[in-house]
Amino acid sequence: MVKSKTELAIKTENLVKNFEVQGSDSVHVLTGMNLEIKRGEFVAIMGPSGSGKSTLVNILSTLETITSGKVNINGVLLKDLTTEELLTLRRSHSAIIFQNFALIDYLTAFENVKLPMIVRGISHQEADVKATEFLETVNLYARKDHLPEELSGGEQQRVAIARALAHEPKIIYADEPTGNLDVVTGMKIIQLFKDISHNMGITVIIVTHDHNAASETDRIYILQEGKMREEKSKKSMKRSSKKR
Ligand SMILES: Nc1ncnc2c1ncn2[C@@H]1O[C@H](COP(=O)(O)OP(=O)(O)OP(=O)(O)O)[C@@H](O)[C@H]1O
Ligand SMILES: [Mg+2]
Repeated sequence: MVKSKTELAIKTENLVKNFEVQGSDSVHVLTGMNLEIKRGEFVAIMGPSGSGKSTLVNILSTLETITSGKVNINGVLLKDLTTEELLTLRRSHSAIIFQNFALIDYLTAFENVKLPMIVRGISHQEADVKATEFLETVNLYARKDHLPEELSGGEQQRVAIARALAHEPKIIYADEPTGNLDVVTGMKIIQLFKDISHNMGITVIIVTHDHNAASETDRIYILQEGKMREEKSKKSMKRSSKKR
């Protein structure tokens, strides 16, 4: 795998994604989309329902293929990779948090966080230590022996975040992480993502319809009609005026 030094976690150039649907017109989701996200940034992606936000997250996390254009993840051009290298990149670079959390319902919070490490071949002893640490990071160690159904929505979201950390990812994607939560719990989750990004240096990309959540991030992008534009948030305006 050829690696180049880059400040960018993500760079797409002229990214096109069409879905071919049998017996119907193809769906043009991304129509030459350019996006640059720096390493360690906390970013929100917004945009109307159906604009392609989830599709984009699936592409960036290599779960979905592209029609044309370039996708560069941490300096690695995806199309240069073999299937095996793609799999390694998927396992070692990114973690996705899905809206329904996708926790395993018969495993406790602790076991849900520990499992990805066991799958990666980490010893039980080390995985126990790290699972403890990640549950402490999300302030949920006290609930470690609870099954998902014995946890509130916000607590399940935090287990899902701890499990994402267990992948030791460079990039975390969270698709509508506050969608099912009350406002206060949602903002706590956003704060947690902010801490993870700014203290652990992990690039965190959230997809959200929630303007309050988005306003906590370093940068807001809007996906519309297949293209991405940056929304000038109060923070980014402050940043650019500082530079001048
Ligand atoms: N596998 C597929 N086959 C065909 N069309 C698809 C497929 N997946 C998604 N689409 C279409 O692509 C478009 C983008 O879908 P996507 O799920 O990325 O939207 P979104 O921005 O995440 O929307 P939401 O805010 O509602 O979650 C939609 O019009 C959808 O119907
Ligand atoms: Mg979606």
